[in-house]
Amino acid sequence: MTLVIDNVFKKYPIRQSKTVVNALNGISLNISKGQTLGIVGESGCGKSTLARLIVGLESPTQGAITWRDNVLLRGSKNQWRNHLSPAQLVFQDPYSSLNPRQRIGECIREVISAHNLRKKEEIDSRVTELLKVVGISEDMKNRYPHQLSGGQRQRVSIARALAAEPELIILDEPVSALDVSVRADVMNLLVDLRKEFGLTYLFISHDLSMVRHISDVIAVMYLGRVVELGTWDEVLDNPQHPYTKALIAAIPDHSQVGQMDLTVSLEGEVPSPTNIPLGCAFHVRCPIAVPNCSKMIPQLLPIKSSQSVACSEVVK
Ligand SMILES: Nc1ncnc2c1ncn2[C@@H]1O[C@H](COP(=O)(O)OP(=O)(O)O)[C@@H](O)[C@H]1O
Ligand SMILES: [Mg+2]
Repeated sequence: MTLVIDNVFKKYPIRQSKTVVNALNGISLNISKGQTLGIVGESGCGKSTLARLIVGLESPTQGAITWRDNVLLRGSKNQWRNHLSPAQLVFQDPYSSLNPRQRIGECIREVISAHNLRKKEEIDSRVTELLKVVGISEDMKNRYPHQLSGGQRQRVSIARALAAEPELIILDEPVSALDVSVRADVMNLLVDLRKEFGLTYLFISHDLSMVRHISDVIAVMYLGRVVELGTWDEVLDNPQHPYTKALIAAIPDHSQVGQMDLTVSLEGEVPSPTNIPLGCAFHVRCPIAVPNCSKMIPQLLPIKSSQSVACSEVVK
């Protein structure tokens, strides 16, 4: 296993209101080399929080993140402060993740230098090579982010992530902020890069129709926990958790990449992470809930060798 996330919790205390946001509530996941793990769930379920923990921007409140048998993050100690993370993060909005006052060539050069990956005299040609790999021509090197289109900016963010030669790239809603017309191009680029360089991806989206195009394995998240996990065809063709079923029912057209509308298939809003329902957090919206569901948190249990579900009504 390349990356193991073991029972990780992340709580954000809010001083003013004396409440706690429970962003992650015991999440466990594995990613192996060369695999693409897709994570899907509604806005606010903790996807970006998980991404920030894996790259070491924040530390977990509880639990461990292990990288090739080295426990790098346990409890609140972030041991990546002294190392460069083996994972790189591509954010949803490339405009805010790129420095507006830095030419794009410079922003890639900086990463290569920070990681000491090339001799000084080789850096320029490496920058050109990386831009080429993502479909940006060399003569754009001296442009600033605002002089590029949204799609080009996201390509530069991807080049910047590749520049660090990471073992894992976390793509946090990488096309959600882009024009619909360029989404497919950027998705195709990601697929090509994975094949060419044997990359390992964690692909995050609130939109299941986006995740299925790229993922080997899909994890469905709800309020900071994984409720279903399986290969993409198991999860899509044979969903078991009532929440996964609702997500799939919300895809407007199975052949179409588009926005999901969960209001059509589920009652009520997602509860606030400051006040997570007891027992199974989904039971208040669940069409098959029984009284016991408010008492016990269901564990993610296998129903087949590769498909697991956290629902006591499904796994009995
Ligand atoms: N720094 C923070 N302080 C307080 N609450 C936060 C912070 N970061 C995220 N949250 C909250 O944690 C929950 C999960 O957020 P996030 O991980 O961004 O979800 P997602 O990416 O799935 O939309 C949300 O309720 C969000 O408001
Ligand atoms: Mg997010």
